[in-house]
Amino acid sequence: MLQENCKYLPGIKLGTNVIADPDLESAVKDADMLVFVTPHQFVEGICKKLVGKLRPGVEAISLIKGMEVKMEGPCMISKLITDTLGINCCVLMGANIANEIAVEKFSEATIGYREDKEAANRWAKLFTTPYFLVAIVEDIEGVELCGTLKNVVAIAAGLVDGLDMGNNTKAAIMRIGLREMRAFSKLLFPSVRDNTFFESCGVADLITTCLGGRNRRVAEAFARNGGKRSFDELEAEMLHGQKLQGVSTAREVYEVLTYHGWQELFPLLSTVHEICIGQLPPTSIVEYSEHTPNLS
Ligand code: 13P
Repeated sequence: MLQENCKYLPGIKLGTNVIADPDLESAVKDADMLVFVTPHQFVEGICKKLVGKLRPGVEAISLIKGMEVKMEGPCMISKLITDTLGINCCVLMGANIANEIAVEKFSEATIGYREDKEAANRWAKLFTTPYFLVAIVEDIEGVELCGTLKNVVAIAAGLVDGLDMGNNTKAAIMRIGLREMRAFSKLLFPSVRDNTFFESCGVADLITTCLGGRNRRVAEAFARNGGKRSFDELEAEMLHGQKLQGVSTAREVYEVLTYHGWQELFPLLSTVHEICIGQLPPTSIVEYSEHTPNLS
């Protein structure tokens, strides 16, 4: 069998122990440890199919960057997995663009956990290699929200690139974005720690995604087209079946902001969504961010 992802990582040899199994039930039936890594749009459906199919005592980790917004409020993906399947679920986030990890270039990642430090250490041991260093942090919501929200900021950074605004503006947008990420996370979960934003999942993932990620690339094309071609159309043309996370996360964040009446506190996060749906032109990203309130 060819140990290669011909479509998305051509030329990279995966380990001989990596077996692609399209049958979900057979893929999980003997597993002790489950790694969830799908676009966040699909995870709820996958979890529902897994109910009653897992071995007792199985542990999970989610590499998925996103959230579900429900009537009762936002639900992080790790919580969705825990609640649907009744299993412990850590998260792993970080400055981890896949094709660079695939060629074994040095990078770092952060595992977020709730209470069960031993489980977090087991996952860290499993993922760590000489070129992939993993830290553990007891702040699951903080780690997961960093990975999730930075995709919205990366859209903003891509818009700035498409408008040829230069590096100072892009850095300003990233800083304002990081500040909004932290304030939003702490409003939702007061337990979120400031230090988490200095881990790989925070500032480092924000930087790499705003420089080299897909959200940035597609948003740049969106701005260069003056917002005339939709994100869906550009995603299909540029990503060949991969799914952007930033556009749907911007919508989900906007729902939360609207529900709580917080839009004015988060001009960058709100404006990204309004640009994505064509309500505002791409140039608004700078105009609105200039009026950002002074969040602590
Ligand atoms: P993109 O989805 O924008 O490529 O971001 C990748 C990422 O999350 C890096 O950590």
